[in-house]
Amino acid sequence: MALRTVKLTINGRLSSVEADDSTPLVYVLRDELGLKGTRLGCGQSQCGACHVMLDGVSVPACDTPLWAVENKVVVTIEGLGQPDALHALQQAFIDEQAAQCGYCVSGILVSAAALLAKRPQPSEAQIRDALDPHLCRCGAHNRMVRAVLKAAAAGAGT
Ligand code: FES
Ligand code: FES
Repeated sequence: MALRTVKLTINGRLSSVEADDSTPLVYVLRDELGLKGTRLGCGQSQCGACHVMLDGVSVPACDTPLWAVENKVVVTIEGLGQPDALHALQQAFIDEQAAQCGYCVSGILVSAAALLAKRPQPSEAQIRDALDPHLCRCGAHNRMVRAVLKAAAAGAGT
């Protein structure tokens, strides 16, 4: 066990966390910082539920140790939008009813936001490729792809 104080920027705010430096980021977010929007699923980088943006790239927080985020910029679902100021992707997901139980959606929205930031007008194939690491047991994938296309058309990535 190697306790360490790590500084990082989360959702635009500088944070400092003291923990074992091998602690997976998903536990730091949920248990140390109270950011419960990031979900834990498989814990093995297999389901996509826990994805967050790390310096603009969507990564599994269950497979990202604390030491790897030192001085980096992390964006979680809480950083994408607020209930009274939704991100265009969140609004599009509501409009398209692109979820059922919702468990997978935090990670999927983060990956979609990372895609639109890099590629504001993605093709359907590019969206499907970006969402490929994400499992949705409710089978809402097609609605999600429609929602991302809708958000892109509304200028979410520009
Ligand atoms: S919980 Fe991280 S990929 Fe499944
Ligand atoms: S909406 Fe239930 S797992 Fe995706």
